[in-house]
Amino acid sequence: MIEPAPAKVNLALHLRRRLADGYHELETIFAFTEFGDTLHAAPADALSLSVEGAFAGAAGQGADNLVLRAASALQAASGAGQGAALRLEKGIPVAAGLGGGSADAAAALRLLNRMWGLDWPMVRLEHLAASLGADVAACVRMRTCFGARRGELLSPWPVAFTGTPVLLINPGVAVPTGPVFQAWDQIDRGGIMSTMPLDALRNDMTTAAVGIAPVIADVLAALDALPGIKISRMSGSGATCLALFDDAAHLAEGAAAMAARGWWHMATRLR
Ligand code: C5P
Repeated sequence: MIEPAPAKVNLALHLRRRLADGYHELETIFAFTEFGDTLHAAPADALSLSVEGAFAGAAGQGADNLVLRAASALQAASGAGQGAALRLEKGIPVAAGLGGGSADAAAALRLLNRMWGLDWPMVRLEHLAASLGADVAACVRMRTCFGARRGELLSPWPVAFTGTPVLLINPGVAVPTGPVFQAWDQIDRGGIMSTMPLDALRNDMTTAAVGIAPVIADVLAALDALPGIKISRMSGSGATCLALFDDAAHLAEGAAAMAARGWWHMATRLR
């Protein structure tokens, strides 16, 4: 069986406050791309995972891979008596703000829910997903949605962005999430309202991420200079940035310009 693991992007990410446990209350618009990883599974007695593809090394094959943690969590919670031989094709850059690990974990939950015949409703999968990481619940849903609290409290977003041309650029610097949150200046710049146009929204982690990986500022400046661009924004805690375009021709033109810079790039569409 095969399950797609679409890359996650944050079209906006507003930080509100630091919580007593060190986590952060935030508001975000999650969206997902046609580009992503692919998870394969075959029936087996035990759980196992192999990882292949461009970013396989960085993703890790071991029990700490979020795919196996998700599979084990579902196995334990459902009492499923079966395992699965899982194979992950890893195309999403790791530690890049694209939720790669979360997308893979969410794909494992959806796929094993089918393969093991559990028939859990999505909300139950999302609830289990939230215990695996703040983004995993949104990745289970894999459609544009609004995330509050730590990102796990999901509600529908009124605007559909399906088909919007999007360019993802990663300058090849892995940015760990925790230190970016810690470097935030803790100033609440206000929440997200659905009446606000995308270009009036922000990613409040940008300044902190640029402090850790200054090249992110170069990426954003390069995207802003492209013709036909709607918005540019850093995704998650970086370093990947995204640009939404008016049409496919401008997307192709932008992708060519970014390829010349030597940065990892992916021209795709929002799903
Ligand atoms: O939940 P996840 O494992 O994706 O989070 C990675 C790190 O990001 C956490 O260890 C925490 O330091 C930080 N984080 C946070 N506030 C959030 C989500 C994540 O501070 N809402």
